[in-house]
Amino acid sequence: MESVQMACVGLFIIALEDRFGSMRIMARREQATWGGRFSNGPAELMLAFSESVSFDQRLALYDIAVNRAHTAMLQSVGLLTKKELSAIRRGLDTIEKRVQDGKLKWNPSFEDVHMNVEQALTKIVPEAAKMHTARSRNDQIATDSRLFMKDACSDLMVKLDGLLRSLLKLADANQTVFIPGYTHLQRAQPVSVAHHLLAYIEMFGRDATRFEQAFDEANWCPLGCGALAGSTLPVNREATAKALGFVDKRGRPRITQNSMDSVADRDAFLDFAHACAMCGTHISRLAEDVILWNSSEFSYIDLPDAFCTGSSLMPQKKNPDSMELLRGKSGRLIGNLQSLYVMVKGLPLTYNRDLQEDKVQIFDSFDQLSICLEVLAGTLKGAKFKKKNCSEAVSDPALLATDLADYLVEKGVAFREAHHVVGALVAKAESLKLPLNEVPDKEALALHPKMGKDWRGVFSLERAMKAREGVGMPGPKQIRRQLARWKKRLSK
Ligand code: ARG
Repeated sequence: MESVQMACVGLFIIALEDRFGSMRIMARREQATWGGRFSNGPAELMLAFSESVSFDQRLALYDIAVNRAHTAMLQSVGLLTKKELSAIRRGLDTIEKRVQDGKLKWNPSFEDVHMNVEQALTKIVPEAAKMHTARSRNDQIATDSRLFMKDACSDLMVKLDGLLRSLLKLADANQTVFIPGYTHLQRAQPVSVAHHLLAYIEMFGRDATRFEQAFDEANWCPLGCGALAGSTLPVNREATAKALGFVDKRGRPRITQNSMDSVADRDAFLDFAHACAMCGTHISRLAEDVILWNSSEFSYIDLPDAFCTGSSLMPQKKNPDSMELLRGKSGRLIGNLQSLYVMVKGLPLTYNRDLQEDKVQIFDSFDQLSICLEVLAGTLKGAKFKKKNCSEAVSDPALLATDLADYLVEKGVAFREAHHVVGALVAKAESLKLPLNEVPDKEALALHPKMGKDWRGVFSLERAMKAREGVGMPGPKQIRRQLARWKKRLSK
């Protein structure tokens, strides 16, 4: 647990012993915030091991926002004077500018972003020694991270919107291009490219909802819960929550309800990582379809040069690398979720330093998914379906064998029996080495008394599609309806 000791403002000279000596200590009482009870500072190795500023510095602007809200609250409850507050505010403006300009010198011996900001501030504004009143880095990091995740969710929702638009455009343009739909990677039944792409639109639509939910989970403010047991000082948690935008739709503050849970809980992190992993999984499955379609064996699609690469050895190659990387990156996103679960599952309440590692996963999932969504949208924008190849692939009448069974069902034959009859017809076609719809009537009609002379009419793609107008089916009207529904949803 954090021992809340104010930093003695002073020089932070790292006095290292002999570089190769076994002691390797930083003997500075003033080290970071907690130097008071220590006679020796941490070993150089321990510092390098335990610092997080190398990665949590990207939370700096959130940390500064939290400092602003917290100090304003401290002043409002009488723990800071107006003068102290305005000095701190001016100082925070300066530090913020330095961060934005990339001019703040991050010092790993101050461990993390919180201490780096506080130390830099205290150097220019001595009043900032009061800033850490009634709080701990434990509630601070939980708050900073939630702010980060809220922004990350919003950002990913915008990127998902871009991807959905790319997909929708491609689907719209390919309503009358048909390909075989597959089960077991065997040609099964015909569908339009639009229908196939709409399947992914559904998935990414659910991802957008999932990020909305992850945003909602992150939108609870833990600030004021201190190290684990709150504070004896009269903090106003509602005020800081409101100032930081942790509010519901009606503007009422949303604050966490148990101080121990507040600093130990990482559910929102897991929800965020899960939303990323799920979206990554959808991306990966689409990538896999596209890789197959792009192979010479399928040859349904042409990918834009801009998102493909060549081979250093084989001059003829054009590889779908963007898609392969998208498929590969999903492993990383799933791994990040797994890492978070493993990290959290055995931790006793409340805060444990293990939790510092959570940011590595969250940042990585966000960064990787952001770029994945852009690359996928970009690749799809330049993708073209090869109509001739698609129509050749879908021309096998066997893909409509099920429709023939349905034809018999409509004439009163039990489906199991109908299935059997059509199976026999398939076997006959195979033995005669003929396409299914070219088996002579004599043989076909002999298979069942309900086989009528019109049986061949079933083998029309147009008929097959028109017969499938139920909700969610690939009929042309249904597809138009689905496309319109998505257009409307995306225009909101
Ligand atoms: N850098 C820490 C983290 O990311 C902040 C909280 C530190 N708390 C502590 N007791 N050392 O989790």
